[in-house]
Amino acid sequence: MRGRPHRLERLPEQYFTRLLARVAAAAAQAGDPLVDLGRGNPDVPPPAHVVDALARAAARDDTHGYAPFAGLPELKDAIAARYRDVYGVEVDPSSEVAVLPGSKTGLIEFAQVAVERGGAIVLPDPGYPDYRSAVALAAAARVPLPLLGDGRPDWDAAPAEGAALYLNYPSNPVAACAPAGVFAEAIAWARRAGAWVLHDFAYGDLVFDGRRPQSFLAEDGAREVGLELFSMSKSYGMAGWRLGFAVGSPELVSRIEDLQNHVFAGVFLPVQQAGIAALTGPQATVDERRRLYEARRDRALAALAAVEARCEGTFFVWFRLPEGVTCEQLLEHHRVAVAPGEGFGDRGRGWARLSLATPDDLLDLGLERLAGAWPP
Ligand SMILES: Cc1ncc(COP(=O)(O)O)c(C=O)c1O
Repeated sequence: MRGRPHRLERLPEQYFTRLLARVAAAAAQAGDPLVDLGRGNPDVPPPAHVVDALARAAARDDTHGYAPFAGLPELKDAIAARYRDVYGVEVDPSSEVAVLPGSKTGLIEFAQVAVERGGAIVLPDPGYPDYRSAVALAAAARVPLPLLGDGRPDWDAAPAEGAALYLNYPSNPVAACAPAGVFAEAIAWARRAGAWVLHDFAYGDLVFDGRRPQSFLAEDGAREVGLELFSMSKSYGMAGWRLGFAVGSPELVSRIEDLQNHVFAGVFLPVQQAGIAALTGPQATVDERRRLYEARRDRALAALAAVEARCEGTFFVWFRLPEGVTCEQLLEHHRVAVAPGEGFGDRGRGWARLSLATPDDLLDLGLERLAGAWPP
C-alpha cells in the first residue's frame, strides 16, 4: 500500500445523487406530498416518430450485435446536417464528429484528453457539478472562473495558463445564454493560455425571447481550440436513451474516439437509428418543447417576482434566496425541493435552481409554496 490517495478519492460527492437521496428522505416523512423542483429530468417524451423508429429497429434481428464502435456514418451525417441547417456551421462528419453515449460521457473524456497539455482545468463558477468530477478523474488541478451577472466569465480572474476551459451556454444552473462576444473572448484566452475549450451545448435549442441557438463552432477559430458537446437529451426528450455528440477539433475527436474504443463498445444500433430519425425527421417538436418551457419560465418569473430570478434559456430558473431562507427550510417546512446553489460552486451560495421540467400542475403548486415561504 503506497501513501498516495486513490484517484477516486479526489471525486467530489455526486451532487445530484446526494440531492435525490435528501429529497427522497423528505418525501418519505409525514406531511403534504413533496413537490420536487430540484431535478432537471425532461418530463415530455420524445417525438412519436422517434419512438417508432426505435421500436422498428429493435424488432429486427440484425440490430442486436455490437454496433460499429465509432457510430453509424449516417448518424454523423445527420448531426453534420443539423449543424449546417440550424447552427450555420459546416463540419466534416468523418473527422469532426464523435458519437457519445450521452454528452456527460464527453465531459469526462474531454478532461482525460486535455490534461495531457499540463496545467489546471478552468471551470465556470457557478457551473454544472459533473465538470468537477471530470477534473478529479483526470487528476488535474481545478481553477474556478467566476461568472458575472450576465453569465460572462470574469476574464480578469482567469489564469494565465491552463490545460482546458469548460463553458456552457445556455448555462446550467444560471440559465444565461451566451453574452455577445463571449466565444471570441474564450478563443482568445485559450490561444494565450495554450488551453483547449469545451463548450457544453446540452441546452442549445432551449433559448427564449426570440433568441437563436448559438453554437460555439460558428465562431472563427473555435474548432482549432476546441469542441462542442451536443445532447439528444434536452432537444428531443431522449435523456434515458444516452446519445450525444462531440463536434469540433479533429484532434480531440479522434482522441475521444480512441478512448471510447477502449472503454465502450458503441451505442445500441436502434438508439442510433432513432437518433437519425430525430435529427432528420420533422422538427416541430423541438420548437413545441422550447415554447412549453418558455411558458413555464414566464409563470415562474411572475411567481418569483419578489426575488431576483433569471432565465434566458435551459429548463431552469436561477433565483436568489431571500435573507434568512434556506433550501433546507423550503424542503422541511414548505415541502418544496429546489437545488441549493452552493452545490454548483462557491459563487452559487445564497442562490437556488428550480426545474421547469415539471408537469404544469406540480410546477404551479411548487411556485405557490415558494412564494408563500418568503418572509413578509
Ligand atoms: C449542463 C449539462 N451538461 C451535460 C449534461 C448531460 O447530458 P446528457 O444527457 O447528454 O449526458 C447535463 C444533464 O443534465 C447538463 O445539465
